[in-house]
Amino acid sequence: METRAVAVRTPSGTYDVVIGSSLMAALGGLLRPLTDARKYAIITDANVAPLFADTVETSLRAQGFECARLVVPPGEATKSWSQAGELLERVASEGLDRRDGVIALGGGVIGDLAGFVAATYLRGVDFVQVPTTLLAQVDSSVGGKTGVDLRAGKNLAGAFKQPILVTADTESVRSLSPSEWASGLAEVAKSAVIEGEEFLGWIESRSEGLADRDAQVVSEAVRRCVEFKSRVVSADEREEGVRECLNYGHTLGHAIENVAGYGTVPHGVAVAEGMRFAAEMAVRVCGADPNFVERQARVLDKLGLRTLTQRLDAKEILRAMHSDKKSRGGVVRFVLPEQPGVWSCRAVDDGTIEESLEVWASSKGRS
Ligand SMILES: NC(=O)c1ccc[n+]([C@@H]2O[C@H](COP(=O)([O-])OP(=O)(O)OC[C@H]3O[C@@H](n4cnc5c(N)ncnc54)[C@H](O)[C@@H]3O)[C@@H](O)[C@H]2O)c1
Repeated sequence: METRAVAVRTPSGTYDVVIGSSLMAALGGLLRPLTDARKYAIITDANVAPLFADTVETSLRAQGFECARLVVPPGEATKSWSQAGELLERVASEGLDRRDGVIALGGGVIGDLAGFVAATYLRGVDFVQVPTTLLAQVDSSVGGKTGVDLRAGKNLAGAFKQPILVTADTESVRSLSPSEWASGLAEVAKSAVIEGEEFLGWIESRSEGLADRDAQVVSEAVRRCVEFKSRVVSADEREEGVRECLNYGHTLGHAIENVAGYGTVPHGVAVAEGMRFAAEMAVRVCGADPNFVERQARVLDKLGLRTLTQRLDAKEILRAMHSDKKSRGGVVRFVLPEQPGVWSCRAVDDGTIEESLEVWASSKGRS
């Protein structure tokens, strides 16, 4: 399969996202021209390490880099302040200096956590992303947001840290569980709706290939998503404007995950439900075309992103929306699509949200 490189240009750094197959074994060679590092700390989780860590280390050692493998437990609970502190101590005890770097080998949890370690160790060392989930390849590994969760909420402490290189090995995602695959597909669908007609049309014609993990189709989807995200973060590195569009589907999606209990509703199902809800709200608030709601629903169904059946309490959901760090000054904001590629980000008043949530909740079964 052809290897592609997409350049990401931001005020704080320009780097390539290399997309292709067999990239784990090529990592050392790709890094060599970018750095004079002596040693890399490879931060990974206990699911990913047995799959790829040996190949990555062999590739780095062949280029003369030393490696320290730091393995953490898998799952969101690992993205914590205490785990970041523990990793910083381990990186220091491995003797990494300013020229050295940190590699994130794993999904979005590892990318966010390892990126935070790279941003803070010695006030910042080089950072490399090797994303191994579809979600991380199409979204979280690009753009430089890193961080950890606090007891008060998700992603509440962090830093912007652009990597020097991202390698998305599209073979590596074949071992993902169906639920993790769906999480990635929801982000692909989100990107397509926000990007516009051409990308959404492409998804409609390739939904089977995406659901079946066809290698060519997956590779093309990753490329399209990375190009889309690259354009967005190049225009707005620090989410002061257009980058907010990446939250499409996440206002309700995060609230569902919060109210149902993290891990109860798969992330992809929660985001897809949030997209369905936001599209309905766009009809009410912006006078958007109801046909778009139907069209988007068909795409999500074809990707296997089922409608949420569980009934959640509308008031609890609204409370969770207010506690999200994305709400501003007590006002909840939604990305509202009017048609593919045409969207606005709006503050919506509680009365309107509550009405929409009541209609939404009443369409569900009993919890
Ligand atoms: N920084 C950003 O811009 C950004 C954007 C979106 C999401 N995120 C963050 O990303 C995180 C979610 O990422 P995720 O969905 O990748 O979760 P994750 O990192 O927890 O990975 C999901 C699961 O898949 C396993 N796994 C990873 N690669 C595998 C592989 N190739 N084969 C088999 N199993 C594998 C992991 O061990 C884990 O159990 C959240 O913390 C979210 O906040 C960050």
